[in-house]
Amino acid sequence: MHSLNDLPRFVEVVEVGPRDGLQNEANPVPAAVKIDLIDRLSAAGMPHVEAAAFVSPKWVPQMAGSAEVMAGIRRRPGTRYSALVPNLKGMEAALAARVDEVVVFTAASEAFAQKNINCSIAESIERFRPVAHAAKTAGVRLRGSISVALGCPYQGEVQPTAVVDVVRRLADLGCDSIDIADTIGVGTPGAVQAVFDAASRVFALARLAGHFHDTYGQALANVLAALQLGVASFHASVAGLGGCPYAKGATGNVATEDVVYMLHGLGIDTGVDLRAVVQTGDFITRAIGRPNHSRAGRALLAKWAAEQGNGTSAACAA
Ligand code: HMG
Ligand code: MG
Repeated sequence: MHSLNDLPRFVEVVEVGPRDGLQNEANPVPAAVKIDLIDRLSAAGMPHVEAAAFVSPKWVPQMAGSAEVMAGIRRRPGTRYSALVPNLKGMEAALAARVDEVVVFTAASEAFAQKNINCSIAESIERFRPVAHAAKTAGVRLRGSISVALGCPYQGEVQPTAVVDVVRRLADLGCDSIDIADTIGVGTPGAVQAVFDAASRVFALARLAGHFHDTYGQALANVLAALQLGVASFHASVAGLGGCPYAKGATGNVATEDVVYMLHGLGIDTGVDLRAVVQTGDFITRAIGRPNHSRAGRALLAKWAAEQGNGTSAACAA
């Protein structure tokens, strides 16, 4: 267990706003807005943007324009662009769109797998086999994602052993990295450390990532808890946007601005320009008419506005 003085020196923040943040929006978000969002996140220095999902448009209509989005973005060297793929059809579309990384996603509970991808966990792994093969052949990175690892809206409690079982299966597929996701934001720091500790016994901690939704206000504490264990990759959504259409009531991911603010405060490098991310959170919440859920984002925007009101240049602040 690391003390606060002995944390990883660099942490990768994976921006999932364009995918997880927008997939649940009831009103269509124009491709041009998504492209603008991704370009701003790239310009802010995000090392990794989860930009799209090549899923069935019948299941998640908001992600239907993913090919157009991928074709329209400006790719910044140094930023990796990933996309969700549930099956070979999605994989073919993702390869045609030239993604850098594909994400196969399953769950730690059978009930959630059925609701989200319409199959059992075992069936999902079989579906991923040709996807994994295609990824290796094309030289595209392969990531696995495990939903409801800290609690399931249908099943209730989820044991770390169930998560470890899925980590093993995704590792056997050849995943380069694996996300452990608290889809409904129920996890608390002790439970987070327990599940990451268990997972790290079968898959290198350096290749695990935390994906925490903030429904119960635990997400930032959970990032810190995993960080103290040595996890150095975290997903976050600008302005805390998001939710899963198949996990009703779950709120967005931990806000990118809040994670970056905390990491920089701990002296940890992220390569991310906090000011630019805060401005991006302001841009996207105005564009889609949503509240900004980032506490750091709101505080900094208010501070900069006050400074401008006082005649101080906002460029000098923060
Ligand atoms: P299904 O209905 O069993 O599949 O859905 P199907 O093979 O019978 O196909 C149904 C229709 O969809 C067919 O069209 C297919 O062609 C089409 P039709 O013949 O009826 O016109 N189709 C596709 N179209 C485009 N791209 C594809 C594709 N596949 C089939 N890839 C399926 C099974 C897995 C496809 C469906 O359940 C699905 O797309 N699920 C995705 C759900 C989803 O995206 N959920 C949100 C993302 S996961 C998440 O948010 C969690 C995460 O953030 C971590 C966390 O927080 O937990 C990652
Ligand atoms: Mg999610």
